[in-house]
Amino acid sequence: MPAYKNISLQNAENTLIITLDRPEKLNALNAKTLDELREIIQESYDNDEVKGIIITGAGEKAFAAGADIKELKNLNEVNARKFSESGQEVFSLVEACPKPVIALVNGYALGGGFELALACHIRVATKNAVMGLPEVTLGIIPGYGGTQRLSHLAGKGLAFELMMTGRKMNADEALKTGIINYVVDTKEEAELKCLDLLHTIYENAPLAISMVVNCVNAAFSRDEDGYLMEANNFARCCTSDDFREGTSAFLEKREPVFKGK
Ligand code: COA
Repeated sequence: MPAYKNISLQNAENTLIITLDRPEKLNALNAKTLDELREIIQESYDNDEVKGIIITGAGEKAFAAGADIKELKNLNEVNARKFSESGQEVFSLVEACPKPVIALVNGYALGGGFELALACHIRVATKNAVMGLPEVTLGIIPGYGGTQRLSHLAGKGLAFELMMTGRKMNADEALKTGIINYVVDTKEEAELKCLDLLHTIYENAPLAISMVVNCVNAAFSRDEDGYLMEANNFARCCTSDDFREGTSAFLEKREPVFKGK
């Protein structure tokens, strides 16, 4: 694994734990961090050793307290568009990852940090998590896909409220409103919960998991016909070795051994 400046990597068997690692700046996402995140996510797509990913923040205080405001300050119309598109691209890579990606939200997940968590497939938070999109308090709007993904996850009413007021939400509210999947007390417990979820997913057919990613994402895309994609992906699954293995194993009353083919 390459060494990075602003993220650190840990391999827990077949799970890659990506830690945003600038705790003195509450893991704020600067351009370098996003470049590194892009590279490691891209690398993970084709790395057979990686079956799933956890993204978290270093320290107890923050997942990521947003885009780096120091860098934001220098944006003008031309480079701001690029800034937004480039962040959107990285987070879309996370969302489209053919392997499960879980956000372990430990503390502040604000602005770009929350947008990153929203791009992950599943979110597990610690009880001290604080989430929100406070961009309007800085005179901007979310630019890394947050206006879209929060609307999809939270529904229009809550998305409008959170983005218009900049109000921060605690973990219990995020759980109640379906924005996060689980809340636990500590970061250690959150890691165990993430690993537990991933190990359950790893028992299933990897190709089918990647197709669930395609189809669920298509449900929120204007450019895709989700039903057509579902039928196509369903048909593709039925040509796989794993499909033959899964159905045979059931009928033979044994555990399946999936190979991702
Ligand atoms: N960008 C750049 N630096 C940031 C940052 C961000 N988004 N968020 C925090 N930091 C830096 C602070 O400037 C400070 O650096 P310093 O020690 O060199 O002064 C350090 O991280 C610690 O933050 P601090 O504000 O002192 O911590 P706090 O506990 O008092 O407050 C927050 C925590 C999260 C409430 C506060 O940092 C905050 O509001 N951050 C910005 C959140 C935001 O608006 N994000 C959206 C950006 S689009």
